[in-house]
Amino acid sequence: MHTVDVATPGGLYPIHIAPGRLDALAQVIPANATSIALVTNPTIDALMGERVLKALSGCGIRIVTVMLPDGEAYKNWETLNVIFDAMLGAQLDRRTVVVALGGGVIGDMAGFAAALYMRGVRFVQVPTTLLAQVDSSVGGKTAVNHPLGKNMIGAFYQPIAVEIDTDVLNTLADREMSAGLAEVIKYGLIMDAEFFSWCATHAAGLRERDPELLAIAIRRSCEFKAWVVSKDEREADLRAILNLGHTFGHAIEAGLGYGHWLHGEAVGCGLVMAADLSSELLGFPLQDVERVRELVTAIGCPVMAPKLAGIDQWMSLMQGDKKTEGGAINFVLMPRIGEAIRRTAPAELVARVIERNTV
Ligand code: NAD
Ligand code: GLY
Repeated sequence: MHTVDVATPGGLYPIHIAPGRLDALAQVIPANATSIALVTNPTIDALMGERVLKALSGCGIRIVTVMLPDGEAYKNWETLNVIFDAMLGAQLDRRTVVVALGGGVIGDMAGFAAALYMRGVRFVQVPTTLLAQVDSSVGGKTAVNHPLGKNMIGAFYQPIAVEIDTDVLNTLADREMSAGLAEVIKYGLIMDAEFFSWCATHAAGLRERDPELLAIAIRRSCEFKAWVVSKDEREADLRAILNLGHTFGHAIEAGLGYGHWLHGEAVGCGLVMAADLSSELLGFPLQDVERVRELVTAIGCPVMAPKLAGIDQWMSLMQGDKKTEGGAINFVLMPRIGEAIRRTAPAELVARVIERNTV
């Protein structure tokens, strides 16, 4: 088993990565917990619910399962209330531990519910998609979407542990694997050129779920993310680099309506657009824009974005991004592969990049 520690001002928590980790979940439930709220959805429940209940029953405390509808379209305040209704209805107290069993949608919502329930109860992330294992379960960003913007309502709230069972990825749809790989290659682009090259060399094997390659990709991604979060938990500055591709990506997701493109697909396409804008603004080499495009294609993500209702809609969606300050859109850009900085960009350059990368 690999353990990666995440150090935050509120304390340290472990990420445990191993095949079969689901069966050991009872180990991370604190001894003074009175009950467990297991938050999941019917898709995941059908695949592993019974096994997880069996593992958690080892704690000898009450387990209340909270079933949410599946999908990004349900990542909203109404669904959050389903969690509160179930927890209050079952009279769960402040020593309850919320266990988020699922992808990023479940993790973000269950984490946000844990942050708010009785002003905060402990929670454990059990990410079951590649995207959640390499990104969303680590670092304490929790949120729901608002019709006017993605993840706009949320809180920083850290889990007490992240339990990654690499075996669960075997049942994941190919499209979801591709979406998760977009967040993996993002780490290479912002932090480590060698890791980017490693991803390019092993793109086919990663897509085919070679267990050894996936174990490396997950561990390295968690290490990158843990390092960034330990330096800047609340995104005062450095953590913003994790949003490479996301300003474009969030516009695609919100513009099409949540759930049409997967989050990771939108991020993958956004990485190409960010590389193109980096080339316009920072002299990022054109051949490296092509390397990014080739790798995003190789992992199975789209590289051309939808036109939406035109440049005006694109601009207005990007203006609404959380990274906008004083009306200027803050992009994460790359001077070169392996390094990221934040920059505002002139509207005409952004418009040119959108024109070139949309169909
Ligand atoms: P998701 O949670 O919607 O899961 C994708 C699909 O896979 C769902 O239908 C789910 O039921 C299914 N699924 C989950 N595990 C499975 C398994 N093992 N086998 C088969 N099917 C399985 O999507 P996601 O890509 O995991 O997460 C996307 C969300 O994560 C977005 O809302 C995004 O905003 C958020 N996110 C958050 C952060 C963060 O730092 N908090 C970072 C990145 C993304
Ligand atoms: N996924 C971006 C972050 O966690 O900051």
